[in-house]
Amino acid sequence: MNDILIKNIKELVQVEDDARLKVSGKEMSEIKTIKNAFLFISEGKIKAFGTMAEMGSKLHPGKSVDMITIDAGGKMVFPAFCDSHTHLVYPQSREIEYIDKIKGLSYEEIAKRGGGILNSARRMQEISEDELYVAAMERLDEIMALGTGAVEIKSGYGLTTQSELKMLRVIKRLKKDSPLTVKSTFLGAHAIPMEYKSNPSAYVDMVINEMIPQVAAEELADYIDVFCDRGFFSVEDTDRILNAGMKHGLRPKIHANELDYSGGIQVGVKYNALSVDHLEFTGDAEIEALLNSETMPTILPGAAFFLNMQYAPARKMINAGLPVALASDFNPGSSPSGNMQLILSMGSILYRLTPEEGINATTINTAYAMGLSQELGSISTGKKANVFITKPIPNLQFMPYYYGSNKVETVILNGEIQG
Ligand code: NIG
Ligand code: FE
Repeated sequence: MNDILIKNIKELVQVEDDARLKVSGKEMSEIKTIKNAFLFISEGKIKAFGTMAEMGSKLHPGKSVDMITIDAGGKMVFPAFCDSHTHLVYPQSREIEYIDKIKGLSYEEIAKRGGGILNSARRMQEISEDELYVAAMERLDEIMALGTGAVEIKSGYGLTTQSELKMLRVIKRLKKDSPLTVKSTFLGAHAIPMEYKSNPSAYVDMVINEMIPQVAAEELADYIDVFCDRGFFSVEDTDRILNAGMKHGLRPKIHANELDYSGGIQVGVKYNALSVDHLEFTGDAEIEALLNSETMPTILPGAAFFLNMQYAPARKMINAGLPVALASDFNPGSSPSGNMQLILSMGSILYRLTPEEGINATTINTAYAMGLSQELGSISTGKKANVFITKPIPNLQFMPYYYGSNKVETVILNGEIQG
């Protein structure tokens, strides 16, 4: 593996001398940068960085390896985005439902008719593991080119033991083969299958007694998720599932409060969830619960935008002192995009986050929400070298401002130039 020296960087963004695990409240509005900087990468890690004037004294390249030098004049360097919430392993897109939505049907109405998640689950029974893998790898390549370097992927379109395991095995292969850092989450409790509609707790029993033990035995998941919301899984169901997951060492990252004040945030906090995600229905009691926790509140702008729902109170949460993370929710039903540059723009446009808050929310805080903030999410010595070089841009504010187009030119993951 070659060393890489990036020099004449117009601005090196999100540098840290003392690496933090997450950034909360007022701190979120600060991003440290170095103008006219260099970044030195060796053995897949960030080895040194500083101003161009410091380069001579800080740079100690290895003798035996060749060094690639990149002149980044006029361009900026950022830590690659971390996307802590996706469902990007899925059998097929669902644009027909999207037309139904345009004509006025709600997400819940579509779900009730057997559309939505159940539609994907039907197709999941038919598709082979290899086909799933190839389609998902293409999506990983697509988001990588847009600047994402780490991604969490959930199961949850299986809803039978066999199909859930199939999805998780695909994620395991992606973990091994993709240059992206991948975390895997078991989401057996994503929707109640039709045949269990009259007896949902029988499905919960199956998740607990059959799925979780097998997922744990094959070491197929890092985390466990439940869609705790009106019309999906209750707080009691969630409590039982998270308790069973905990016994197998699976920390929760859950879907909560997208459709109602569901109690999802509180039950997540009770089980020390790494994150609670969506959060459109977040009031004072929910903020209070989160303030005394290690749980990362994660907002999914793509889903609220695509479904035309109300937006989570991000400003209020940050003003209360909470950290906030922004992830894509890349999935075929409620957010068919994994473009984290667009999520960063939505953070500013729809949620009134400053560009600096948005960058913290899509890098270090999403790294935390994947259990990766010790190794990713900022430019810090010893961290994994996952960075991107932008096209020539005037300043960091331009990143969210110039929405909808790709500002990323070169992606480096694990210290290797991609593409
Ligand atoms: O995060 N909210 C629940 N699950 C997904 C939607 C999945 C789908 O519709 O396929 C979400 O939005
Ligand atoms: Fe989701």
